Amino acid sequence: MITMEDMLSTVMRKAFQKAFPDIEADWVDVTVVATTNAEFGDYQCNYAMGLAKSLKKPPRQIAETVLSATAKHEAIDKVTLAGPGFINITLSTEWLTRMMLAVGRDDRCGVPQVGSGKTVILDYSSPNVAKPMHIGHIRSTVIGNALDRLHRFLGYRVLADNHLGDWGTQFGIMIMGYRHFADPVALDESPVEELERVYVKSYEQSKQDETWLNQARQELVKLQSGDPENRQLWQRFIELSLTEFDHIYKRLDVQFDLVRGESFYHDRLAGVVQDLVEKGLARESDGALVAFLDEEKLPPCIVKKSDGGFNYATTDLATIESRISEFHPDKIVYVTDERQQLHFKQVFALARKRGCVTRLEHVWFGLMRLPEGTFSTRQGNVIKLEKYLDEAEARALIIVKETSPDMPEARQRDIARAAGIGGVKYADLSQNPQSLVTFSWEKALALDGNSAPYLQYAYARIASVQDKFKDQFPGVDLAKFSISLEHPIERTLAVMILQFPELVIRATESYKPSVLADYLYGLSSAYSTFYQNVPFLKAPEGIRESRVNLCSIVARILRQGLNLMGIETPDRI
Ligand code: ARG
Repeated sequence: MITMEDMLSTVMRKAFQKAFPDIEADWVDVTVVATTNAEFGDYQCNYAMGLAKSLKKPPRQIAETVLSATAKHEAIDKVTLAGPGFINITLSTEWLTRMMLAVGRDDRCGVPQVGSGKTVILDYSSPNVAKPMHIGHIRSTVIGNALDRLHRFLGYRVLADNHLGDWGTQFGIMIMGYRHFADPVALDESPVEELERVYVKSYEQSKQDETWLNQARQELVKLQSGDPENRQLWQRFIELSLTEFDHIYKRLDVQFDLVRGESFYHDRLAGVVQDLVEKGLARESDGALVAFLDEEKLPPCIVKKSDGGFNYATTDLATIESRISEFHPDKIVYVTDERQQLHFKQVFALARKRGCVTRLEHVWFGLMRLPEGTFSTRQGNVIKLEKYLDEAEARALIIVKETSPDMPEARQRDIARAAGIGGVKYADLSQNPQSLVTFSWEKALALDGNSAPYLQYAYARIASVQDKFKDQFPGVDLAKFSISLEHPIERTLAVMILQFPELVIRATESYKPSVLADYLYGLSSAYSTFYQNVPFLKAPEGIRESRVNLCSIVARILRQGLNLMGIETPDRI
């Protein structure tokens, strides 16, 4: 299977080459895009504009030459010229009909496995031990998991790695706090909150009390040199934190292939620093070892502090080295909030200087703003994630009870869970990750906007059309009927359905699940128009079955698309 975009781009690329055999151009730049207005056909190619400058010819004239060089193609009905030199392509309805039947039979909805044979490591979620997850970790989890699902679906071998922050200077303070202030009951009920509380208390004490601070330093040294008792405590902090994090991952339906914290790479740190020094990439400055990145126009990066401790960047360099030697990935992708942009620029630059050729990508997102006062604790953006999810489900339940009062309670709860969690995820995924957004419950749970419940509702409605058909026409085998695209809205829907593969690929390659969200929203709006404007069950035989078949394909795409974002699709809402 090949996407329509690729197929048509190839046709146009050949036409350009045939029309201008003697010129040197970057023919890969000849591509097509879907038109936004059906008046201009289904796809358009704007490359004539690009060529006009270098050929010093009017673009329209170039486009004309290309037009006559365009080969006939079974998928293309006509190729026309518009405006100053746009080339518009109209697909053949007969071809579309054939493709619809093929997609209808394909359980991948036509999506090719473009990633097969390639390995990607996805570093996401990655919260810090003994601290509550903050809104940034939630976004990282939700966006990272969507990228995870997208890559897997495209056939990549994905290693999802939860790179826990489980190593660092805070553990000395933490151990002191735990020994002196921990409350066993609170630890049982809400471990991470309690660990955070004792940490803060111990930290405050260390600021006023020199002896306390010194003791904390000693505890850290003991931990780092392998003292069994401190090791055991540290292990316990990790276990307590993971139990709580796992609870959240379970609710969000997120699984990792690896949970390797920073500590996993500890033994490599000294070697990394030594290598940097030997390669002349780091040198001493004020007692610390510093990598200078002047060529890259980046600020210097400390790789070993004057007290002998290593830094976050050093750990990431060691992590890259270890991942490459163990898994030979084609790319490593990190998902974090925007505040780590400089960190990753420095780390990537240093990794490259050390000889790493693996693609390294930092996918960053802005912090989502929560409405004033919601869930905030001390620090503004620290929220109680469990409470946030509870509230999502509770609010969704109110809506479900209003819309489906007669449904059994257990079913209502099930749907509320899917809509609530889906709503929260979709609110994150439907935004361009890099734009700043303010979260609102009204938007996240809206039944009539660009939201998960809206799409879930659309899906359930489509499923009900199929049920109604089965009730009224029992025993009719829909598979025996073809799909006809006579009505313009049917044709529009077919083109959109066949665009699913290219949109999935684009969302994956640009690391923007929002591309997929926009598409699904557009598809369900087109479906609504279809549903409202043509008769279904009242249509004559043949047309009726064709329309129901078209419906099921839309339903399957919505289901698959939402699944790629980690959003469930209950059959009834
Ligand atoms: N633990 C870090 C934090 O909470 C995120 C880690 C991201 N991954 C990495 N390899 N640096 O900010």
